[in-house]
Amino acid sequence: MPVYLGQKAPDFTVNTTKGPLVFSTLKGKWVLLFSHPADFTPVCTTEFMAFSNRYEDFRKLGVELIGLSVDSIYSHIAWLRDIKEHYGIEVPFPVIADIDKEVARAYNLIDEKAGLTVRGVFIIDPNQVVRWMIYYPAEVGRNIDEIVRVIKAFQFNWDKKLATPANWEEGQEGIQGAPVTLEDSEKRDAEGAERWYLKRVKG
Ligand code: BEZ
Repeated sequence: MPVYLGQKAPDFTVNTTKGPLVFSTLKGKWVLLFSHPADFTPVCTTEFMAFSNRYEDFRKLGVELIGLSVDSIYSHIAWLRDIKEHYGIEVPFPVIADIDKEVARAYNLIDEKAGLTVRGVFIIDPNQVVRWMIYYPAEVGRNIDEIVRVIKAFQFNWDKKLATPANWEEGQEGIQGAPVTLEDSEKRDAEGAERWYLKRVKG
């Protein structure tokens, strides 16, 4: 069964570039799990450097970053060493060596036709529920600003119980859930809401 939003995140026990990892031990933390097609490929290399350069921003948000591909641990080690040697960037997060494709299958990351792992991004909340997933093709690199923005929107929703409007950025107003009774809709009018079904509020 493919992974879906709102699902309990599939657990896994894996080998990573920072040692063994049991995913369920991260309960209580926000997790950003992201996959890449293959080590030593150009777009993936730019993405790994971009994620590494924003690592402190993720840490400040209390987010654990975890990379993944179906390459071996030795391939990962060689690639990360190469990035450090040639670009001076140390990749600070663990990278899963999913050689038996267990995690890739559980998170629906295999493009069988291309024989590659797709670029997947998953935000998993502290209850280990999958809250966001997005898949990019091999030829389009990810936008780290957008990933950070979505994490901030989830954390805003988590803390304030407010949704976020289109193009929301940190510090902007949120949106209250739509009313579900006629009486509540009339109350929204009395409160001076923009529309009875759209009320913006400060977070
Ligand atoms: C890349 O540039 O990251 C890439 C190229 C071909 C296949 C998969 C990934």
